[in-house]
Amino acid sequence: MVNDEELTKKDSIYCSYGDTVHYAEPPKIFRRCEGNFLYDSMDVPYLDLQMWYSAASFGYRNSRLSEVLKTQVDTLPQLACQYLHEEKVLLAERICLANEKRFKEKGRVNFNVGGAQAIEDALKLVRNAKRRNLMFAFMGSYHGRTLGASAITSSYRYRRRYGHFSDRAQFIPFPYCFRCYYEKKREDCDFYCISQFEKLFETEYYSVIDTKVMESEYVAFFVEPIQATGGYVIPPKGYFKRLKKILDRWGILLVDDEIQMGIYRAGTLWAIENFEVTPDMIAFGKALTNGLNPLSGIWAREDLINPTVFPPGSTHSTFSSNPLGTKIGLEVMRMLEEEDYEKKVSESGKYFLSLLKDLQKKHREIGDVDGLGLALRVEICASDSFTPDRELTEKIFLEGLKGRLDYKGSNYGLVLDIGGYYKNVFTLAPSLYITRGEIDMAAELLDQLISRCKKA
Ligand SMILES: Cc1ncc(COP(=O)(O)O)c(C=O)c1O
Repeated sequence: MVNDEELTKKDSIYCSYGDTVHYAEPPKIFRRCEGNFLYDSMDVPYLDLQMWYSAASFGYRNSRLSEVLKTQVDTLPQLACQYLHEEKVLLAERICLANEKRFKEKGRVNFNVGGAQAIEDALKLVRNAKRRNLMFAFMGSYHGRTLGASAITSSYRYRRRYGHFSDRAQFIPFPYCFRCYYEKKREDCDFYCISQFEKLFETEYYSVIDTKVMESEYVAFFVEPIQATGGYVIPPKGYFKRLKKILDRWGILLVDDEIQMGIYRAGTLWAIENFEVTPDMIAFGKALTNGLNPLSGIWAREDLINPTVFPPGSTHSTFSSNPLGTKIGLEVMRMLEEEDYEKKVSESGKYFLSLLKDLQKKHREIGDVDGLGLALRVEICASDSFTPDRELTEKIFLEGLKGRLDYKGSNYGLVLDIGGYYKNVFTLAPSLYITRGEIDMAAELLDQLISRCKKA
């Protein structure tokens, strides 16, 4: 085994730094994983509250999923996309039937590799449907880092060096009520943000519509129902219903990016179900294979994706719908049908949120906590409980990675991830199988970390 020091040195020589951000310097090295824990070179266990940005939602080295992967490796591990294999078709069928049940809409699935590629396919579909190329997206959004996906991702930082290949979206404020863009209060704002969006459609002189033909120049609104990288921001109930009404009036398609929040992260198969609207398209990835294979895809309404409008060759990757990924995805869908995940996830989430609320009472530095299912947020602030404190957030994060916390007399670490508009939010995406005991442990370790870091 290459030791930690040597590995870090080789990384600095041979690896591009362009493909990631290491918050810890030098980057933390892990050697093995099991269930909800990662283990470092000294075999110290780290409770993981982010599970690979929600890709490993069913726990590391999930034995059922590892088994089907091994079986597939021994039967049909490779096959060119031009041939059919059962796993692809049965997985597509399961996703379509699940959506038909939920949304009363028939549709089809198109697979690809990685979330950003699924977003690229969604961009192609909406551009094809409307023959125009302008999109709405939210401030605080993240849809991936290919050229097309970063054009609808709010941060200019991701585009600055590369110029425009696709028109950047028009970015609209997300209902981030704790830090309302319009400085309104949730209790009495009466969805002021929606009325501001609606105002854009009042006259052609606000630049988005032609009233003579009642057409919007914008063809789709790409949304994350709960903003992920933006800091696990949960919109108020009713918001998306009002938004959808406006979009429907102007024939603007709703593209639902479920790449991080889908597959029961927010207590339902798709997070958008919590907000009672039917999307025209859904992009998914990450947890569909528990992170064992970079399989992603889109589901779209039949009229948007049927072979006459989206003919063969419209999109392709050598590895899309590969037999290993689709086999694991199929097993994940089977698992979801066998157990009541909605109940399981929402009960664990409610318990976790209650402990976070207790922590908030104890630490003024926790300005906001919120959660839906097991998508939870802890916003770290100065002692006024509002001013974002990025420095303290980073300190807590790094301290967790040192692996020097104590739980019932043993040594532990805590894996967190930082998100949010001000990089001051812990975005918690624990395993969907996290136990009550592990939630207690998570709260205790967070408490130790915050107490230690705010004093330091
Ligand atoms: C909401 C959302 N969309 C798209 C992506 C991009 O997915 P990928 O990293 O697989 O390209 C991500 C990744 O974090 C995401 O969270």
